[in-house]
Amino acid sequence: MYDLIRPLLFALDAETAHGLTLYASDVAQRSGFSGLIAKPPADLPVKVFGIDFPNPVGLAAGLDKNGEHLDGLAAMGFGFVEIGTVTPRPQAGNDKPRMFRLPNHEAVINRLGFNNGGIDALVRNVRKASFRGVLGINIGKNKDTPNERAIDDYLICLDRAYPLASYITVNISSPNTQGLRDLQEEETLRRFIGTLRESQESLAARHGARKPMLLKIAPDLSEGELDAIADVLLASGIDGVICTNTTIDRDTVAGDPHAGEVGGLSGRPLFEKSTRVLRGMKARVGDRLPIIGVGGILDGDTAAEKIEAGASLVQVYSGLVYRGPKLIAEAVTEIRRRGIVA
Ligand code: FNR
Repeated sequence: MYDLIRPLLFALDAETAHGLTLYASDVAQRSGFSGLIAKPPADLPVKVFGIDFPNPVGLAAGLDKNGEHLDGLAAMGFGFVEIGTVTPRPQAGNDKPRMFRLPNHEAVINRLGFNNGGIDALVRNVRKASFRGVLGINIGKNKDTPNERAIDDYLICLDRAYPLASYITVNISSPNTQGLRDLQEEETLRRFIGTLRESQESLAARHGARKPMLLKIAPDLSEGELDAIADVLLASGIDGVICTNTTIDRDTVAGDPHAGEVGGLSGRPLFEKSTRVLRGMKARVGDRLPIIGVGGILDGDTAAEKIEAGASLVQVYSGLVYRGPKLIAEAVTEIRRRGIVA
């Protein structure tokens, strides 16, 4: 089905096509036709961070920033859905156009800039949904909050999202909010994660439930930076890490008409780079810290390779643009066939 409508979607501006696809998924779910769009995979249960996942293939952050499409997305067969990035206050994001397809590379460049309706709207949307699956809520900071006060934004979002989330993702790796990735610097990160961990523990006591907290990192990190981040994470008691966000590197798409667009590159050209960071992180943290692998999963093989590189779970985004929702079942099927999840 997706193969039939893809040419129509690709005739539209990338962000318009994106909105239309989400709308169609809601309509399909409400009218009971989701099975026509994609056959959901048979379960492949895994337990990670103490959470039971029906399968290890999830939706990456950024597609449903406000948690407005949870029921439509769940019907596609994801093992878990991550919504956000959400900020304390609503914000418009960067000027359009701000999302570009690079079809020759099965890639996307975006510089959306955390356009979202704010944490209160996200909370209302999640409460309204029937979705009862595994829900990640990915949190960030407003554009006009300086880095010295970034922690306050994350604490606000953590506090509000905590009761609704299965897990929380702390996003300090988007290239589209100026200075955000500087929070990955060792000493800054140590203080930053330390404060969030204290809040996580007091929220666990207040709500009588401990929710895992994960850190999402960039693919553009040197070996030295990876060393430092792994040390901080292991010492901090954080529950897991997501490798990786989009890249600012354009080497893999040089010569493409859109290669010069500012923003984060995702999709197939990100696979090697993000998997290198995943493998590097796994070598440093071993079995002490579960990893979610994301970046360039376009088919069953690339999904399975992330698990073989050390991921316990995977997420997809750009692959959905190029392959449609059948990618989810393909990924689950190949991971099952290789017998690589516990
Ligand atoms: C993203 N991504 C993202 N990540 C995040 O943590 N918060 C966000 O708000 C967004 N927004 C966003 C928008 C768009 C249009 C894209 C394409 C991506 C990054 C995403 O979650 C993922 O880490 C990367 O896209 C790599 O995976 P894929 O796309 O190669 O499967």
